[in-house]
Amino acid sequence: MKTILVTGGAGFIGSCYVLMAAAMGYRVVNLDKLTYSGNLDNLASLKGNDKHVFVQGDIGNYELVQYLCKEYAPLYVVNFAAESHVDRSILDPEAFVRTNVLGTCALLRAVKEWHASLDKESAAYKDFRFLHVSTDEVFGALKPADPAFTEKTAFAPNSPYSASKASSDHFVRAYYETYGLPCLITNCSNNYGPRQFPEKLIPLVTLNALKRETLPVYGRGENIRDWLHVEDHCEAIHLVLTKGTIGETYCIGGNSEKSNIEVVKTICAILDELRPHENGKYETLIQFVTDRLGHDFRYAIDCSKIRNELGWKPKHNFKEGLAGTVKWYLENSAWVENVQSGEYRRWLEKNYTGR
Ligand code: NAD
Ligand code: TYD
Repeated sequence: MKTILVTGGAGFIGSCYVLMAAAMGYRVVNLDKLTYSGNLDNLASLKGNDKHVFVQGDIGNYELVQYLCKEYAPLYVVNFAAESHVDRSILDPEAFVRTNVLGTCALLRAVKEWHASLDKESAAYKDFRFLHVSTDEVFGALKPADPAFTEKTAFAPNSPYSASKASSDHFVRAYYETYGLPCLITNCSNNYGPRQFPEKLIPLVTLNALKRETLPVYGRGENIRDWLHVEDHCEAIHLVLTKGTIGETYCIGGNSEKSNIEVVKTICAILDELRPHENGKYETLIQFVTDRLGHDFRYAIDCSKIRNELGWKPKHNFKEGLAGTVKWYLENSAWVENVQSGEYRRWLEKNYTGR
């Protein structure tokens, strides 16, 4: 059985990938620390499925990663684990250094040493691949008329989050160049979809609106993000993992640039239709608030390389994908309640019976 060691597989994007990989028949060993954004409710449908081996632990734990490699002999490692929220990185940059930089370095060293110990003629050695999941934020900010980011764009990270991700990308590159570890890197734009932790714009606005709380829009809401559905991102990751050229990076994006105020107003309009409220339109809850420090103006991805070389293109369009996402939050009130009450933090001890 082909095994994938996934890190951060209880988070938003990682859990989508774990569900997809298990459905494809892979055994998934899921190493996740279960920080505030890790939620085993995301993987409830895999309960009792022995294709999913959950291990609570830190990517920075070299001995644990070595043990998992020896025990499960993964064909692939996919690294999602990270501190992922820009606003938190502004408050506590060092937490981002610990996981995103030092954690990734320990993970790379443990995987590299295990891989180097394999028989060089074996398929286990030759077919092995390590994919590092990264962000377009490493490229910095675009002005309105600038061309979109490509794989050739120079790194210019502006936030502590993007600085830590850029650093981890450089270490992955260094492990390929120095030690020949078969690595690939993906740099993706903003994701949306089910199971995103409600600190990020789309779930935060959706859930605040349902509680009739204010919808905080930073600055004038003019900043632009290029939105991609999480399932499209995970399909792209798997394609790069299995078909991409080792040592290369691939940019992934939705070709769907929207200003924040446009996104927030669209969520309000979707809710007006799906859950009309007697006190009036959801838009009336919008409040422009103090801007984020160092707020990057615009991100946009040119995904010609992955489209031309690997034939990838997104399946979801933003309008329908966003409506489906808002609907998911409306229909999954137990998930929402567990997150909002903090109950999801106790899920592991109370419910999880898998390994
Ligand atoms: P998330 O915060 O929802 O999930 C992160 C997961 O990593 C959580 O389950 C958490 O418990 C786990 N984790 C954190 N520190 C860990 C550690 N030290 N050891 C093991 N596990 C740890 O984040 P996400 O939005 O799913 O992002 C996943 C990856 O994708 C990140 O690397 C992020 O930089 C990247 N990315 C995210 C986006 C986006 O829009 N969300 C876009 C491009 C790239
Ligand atoms: P976010 O979802 O935090 O992702 P990122 O910072 O990685 O792009 O934010 C998306 C955009 O929405 C970003 O421009 C900041 C803005 N934003 C708000 O206006 N209000 C909010 O409450 C949040 C969380 C974000």
